[in-house]
Amino acid sequence: MTLPHLPMDRENPFDPPAGLASARDEGPVVPMRFPDGHRGWLVTGHAAAREILASPLFSNRPELTRSIVSVPGGTGVGTTAPPGMFSRMDPPDHTRIRKLLTRWFTVRRTRELASRIERITDDHLDRMAAHGPPTDLVHAFALPIPSILICELLGVPYAQRERFQRDTAVLFDLDSQPDRVNAAWSSLGGLLSALAREKRLRPTDDVISELVGGGDLTEQEVVMVAIVLLAAGHETSATMIAHGIFALLRHPEQLARIRADPPLVDKAVEELLRYLSIFHIGPARSALADVLVAGQLVKRGDTVAISLPAANRDPSEFTNPDELDVGRDHNRHLAFGHGIHQCLGQQLARVELRVGLGRLLRRFPDLRLAVPAEDVPVRGNIAVYGVQSLPVTWGQR
Ligand code: HEM
Repeated sequence: MTLPHLPMDRENPFDPPAGLASARDEGPVVPMRFPDGHRGWLVTGHAAAREILASPLFSNRPELTRSIVSVPGGTGVGTTAPPGMFSRMDPPDHTRIRKLLTRWFTVRRTRELASRIERITDDHLDRMAAHGPPTDLVHAFALPIPSILICELLGVPYAQRERFQRDTAVLFDLDSQPDRVNAAWSSLGGLLSALAREKRLRPTDDVISELVGGGDLTEQEVVMVAIVLLAAGHETSATMIAHGIFALLRHPEQLARIRADPPLVDKAVEELLRYLSIFHIGPARSALADVLVAGQLVKRGDTVAISLPAANRDPSEFTNPDELDVGRDHNRHLAFGHGIHQCLGQQLARVELRVGLGRLLRRFPDLRLAVPAEDVPVRGNIAVYGVQSLPVTWGQR
């Protein structure tokens, strides 16, 4: 029997590859072939995914975890996470850093930011209107809004966007050659260490100033934490806004429901997060002991690849999982992961999406694609799956 491997080819830009559903038909946890030949596990079931992500018996450390997909320059286990890269640490190291950040990303704090998010969104809608149709929604709208917000939170000048957007794109691109990846890391490191030094001298009200002033982290750790937040904080939300709009334009009956009942946008955002599951490869974890998951014995040292797109379409958790239903009530999706590494920026992303989608649809009631849907470029070879650009138009036909 040939074992499944990732990534799999997709049949269309909205549904996970059919191969994932076939794997799930075999069971929620099935053997998988990793690029270095390791025989690990593919997790497609919702309950099994939650169980693993919440379990202290599974590690997220790169030196224990196999690479799920083949990337230039490395397909096996990684090296130890550099100081400050808390997203790839286990407790207590992970806890020590994450607890310094949580207050910046709570529901309350994000609510306080809502009016700022609305202003930035409206500004960009005004600019789109002034520019006139057609336009690329990624560059005119979806990318700037989360980029400005994460810059303001961290204290990074937005004028540096070209540099950090380009570097992040290199880091997220699974085809990037090692020399380009190294150059992107050092470019981001250079940008943020200069900034950390400046904030030490002249602190402002932002995450980097607080971290350098707090004395809990070394300067090297502060720089890495800032890189993680800056990189994770814009490309993900940008892709979700743009791919979410693409999905709605291709499901006009669902779009009409939101237009008829604007408060539905909150549920619609959760449903788009579930339905599209843009974090489409992994996360991966490594077993620290022999563990029985959904009847399968996962041995100590085995890597598990948890497929969020598959778990989010699991029929044992969701009614009609393959349907986009913007009014869906029971929606315990895993688009932001689960457990201790669950997305730190999820409340921020939610507000960006609710405000962004809601206001865009209100401002341009006849927004539509400017090209045939098949011509919209979609990227699969990247950490977050979604449109590369989204040509849209409005007004006179
Ligand atoms: C972690 C998805 C937006 C920061 C994660 C994880 C997922 C995810 C699935 C868990 C990874 C794992 O378990 O290994 C998303 C999606 C987003 C989004 C779909 C947008 C729609 C953001 C934003 C930020 C952010 C706006 C802002 C800072 C982070 C960080 C982590 C993380 C720092 C690592 C947390 C930790 O390890 O403790 N995200 N994310 N994300 N996300 Fe997000």
